[in-house]
Amino acid sequence: MFDKKIYIERRNQLKKDVQSGLVLLLGNKEVAFNYPANTYSFRQDSNFLYFFGLHDADLAGVIDIDNQKDFIFGNDVDMDDIIWMGNQPSVKERAEKVGVDNTNPMPKLAEMLNETIKQGRKIHFVSPYRGETQMQLADLLGIKYTNVKNYVSIELVKAIIKQRSIKSELEVAEIEKAIETAYDMHTTAMKMAHPGIIEQQIAGAMEGIAIAAGGPVSFPVILSVNGQTLHNHYHGNVLTEGRMMVADAGCETEMNYCSDITRTVPVGGKFNERQKAIYEIVLNANLKAIEAIKPGIPYRDIHLLSAKVVAQGLKDLGLMKGDIDEAVSKGAHAIFYPHGLGHMLGMDVHDMEGMGENYVGYDEEIKRSTIFGTAFVRLGKRLQPGFVLTVEPGIYFIPALIDQWRAEGKFTEYINYDLADTYKDFGGIRIEDDILVTETGCRVLGKPIPKTVAEIEAIMGR
Ligand code: GLY
Ligand code: MN
Ligand code: MN
Repeated sequence: MFDKKIYIERRNQLKKDVQSGLVLLLGNKEVAFNYPANTYSFRQDSNFLYFFGLHDADLAGVIDIDNQKDFIFGNDVDMDDIIWMGNQPSVKERAEKVGVDNTNPMPKLAEMLNETIKQGRKIHFVSPYRGETQMQLADLLGIKYTNVKNYVSIELVKAIIKQRSIKSELEVAEIEKAIETAYDMHTTAMKMAHPGIIEQQIAGAMEGIAIAAGGPVSFPVILSVNGQTLHNHYHGNVLTEGRMMVADAGCETEMNYCSDITRTVPVGGKFNERQKAIYEIVLNANLKAIEAIKPGIPYRDIHLLSAKVVAQGLKDLGLMKGDIDEAVSKGAHAIFYPHGLGHMLGMDVHDMEGMGENYVGYDEEIKRSTIFGTAFVRLGKRLQPGFVLTVEPGIYFIPALIDQWRAEGKFTEYINYDLADTYKDFGGIRIEDDILVTETGCRVLGKPIPKTVAEIEAIMGR
């Protein structure tokens, strides 16, 4: 964990921003996988981690703004636990490490919240993303399970997002550590991507590298020769010459900061002409977007810039036609690029998304588009120094989407369906990097992972 001063400062900033009432941040519980004693690997809630730093299950943090006091609630282990887990520090000892002087056993939390409600003070909490947390909140606050989300504190959500969006140098260093491991994961995958191997052998090697480095993967590994399925988690295909392999994977550090990197390589290590032509377009979109990132510019505009680079590249190949600005503003490119350029990255891969994507990525000034493709942009708002985000353009040939749009006669002035039909066996390409917005521009984080055609062919031994 960081020095206790950091957690104290974060909580104090939150007190200033939320101004009054009591903030309740529930830590996560162990969750059963297939029977109660067999749990999913434990992941602490990121807001709890950010403000209270402790990685253990069954804790709750309270920030009493009106009385300027912080609390951790949790039960000390007893002999039944010690037999299975060994000795554990007390809640008090753990709380001291993150600068919290006040601790209480868990049953006291309900009493404190009851008292707060009686006093007519507001209890601030964020939207739960787990059923267990939603039930716990319902019990603690005496509200119906289905009504919990109606009582979410938007002031708290906005205050947390304001703080967590700006990464400190220490946080950026943690993210770079996670990218260091992602470098090993991706270069290993590249070296293994030869005909005859099964996807799961490579996906398993990547996951093993993440675990050996101290953290789990930051999301289930996406690895497929069917990269046209954007989040493909099926790993049973055998790699064959002529396919592209998309690997979208990252890891968490021991402090739960994440990396999220995508590389796409030709099976066997040598791009054919068709693969190279599409790859260069995606690479150009990735590089042009990175070049344009700087504080003050809406990320939505960088997304649209990347879409224009993609559309122009596809026009040069004859796959698109007509006026490119017009095509992108109407959303015609989305048949080949049906997602956004990127998202915030931090302790969550889609950072803070549990509190609501629109609060993270949009604001009063910049609202989400309703056009297919552009509507999937997760981050649209103006960039600020300290934001860490992903840049992940892609081109995909999705047979079902091509067929549907063609049947509907959609955007026939911009899309060459006859040529698109000949790419239905292509798959997809995505290239994703993690970027820090600086005072003057941006910096690609971490050790550079092979990205150009020449770099990929070299590392794959071709
Ligand atoms: N790993 C999912 C994404 O890139 O957003
Ligand atoms: Mn991503
Ligand atoms: Mn990714």
